[in-house]
Amino acid sequence: MGYNIAIDGPAGAGKSTIAKQVAKKKGFIYVDTGAMYRGLALHFIRQGIQPEEREKIAFACQDVVIRIGYEDGIQQVYLNGDNVTSRLREEAVGNMASKSSAIPEVREKLLELQRNLAKEEDVVMDGRDIGTHVLPDADVKVYLTASVATRAKRRFAELTAKGEECDFDIIAADIAERDARDMNREIAPLKQAEDAVLIDSSDMTIEEVTDAILALCGR
Ligand code: DC
Repeated sequence: MGYNIAIDGPAGAGKSTIAKQVAKKKGFIYVDTGAMYRGLALHFIRQGIQPEEREKIAFACQDVVIRIGYEDGIQQVYLNGDNVTSRLREEAVGNMASKSSAIPEVREKLLELQRNLAKEEDVVMDGRDIGTHVLPDADVKVYLTASVATRAKRRFAELTAKGEECDFDIIAADIAERDARDMNREIAPLKQAEDAVLIDSSDMTIEEVTDAILALCGR
């Protein structure tokens, strides 16, 4: 069994930024499970399936192959052998992932892949149900959150820096809506594991959060 650090929390809390930093400092691999859900979501989009078509999504899971690999230490997602990493952050893919990830067959498809990685490697894995369901025996569990306003501010700054036009209120409403969907779904809802350490990053720097997590690691 590898040494496992599980980081869960809502969208935009900074999980991937922090998880990457922690992985770098520890020399562990970073496993972005959201990217796996996004990879499957792209498959459903390519099949012309709508997010509401649960049966078609369940059926489409049967023979799709999702695999991850690393290039220069950066996670790559392969969909049926095709490297689709550059497509995963598209808005449509995120929306499909948010909806399709509530379907049991979709979660089942990725569970073994995630557990096997954690068994073989020292990992920092981030997602929504890592500490509660995927790796219940993780060595370190963190629930990383930040207020909706803080997360909306960060997203607004990110999009503005890229030269994209955006509206702060719409971003904040989207974040709140995604939270509600992730937290209230029947299967593997986003919630803090009983033995997870809560870190609210609203008023913390990336370094402060990283150091707080490193301090929790026994080795
Ligand atoms: O973290 P992210 O935005 O890349 O995740 C995309 C979607 O996948 C998100 O709406 C919730 C879902 N997800 C999940 O249900 N379980 C995980 N472990 C990771 C992501």
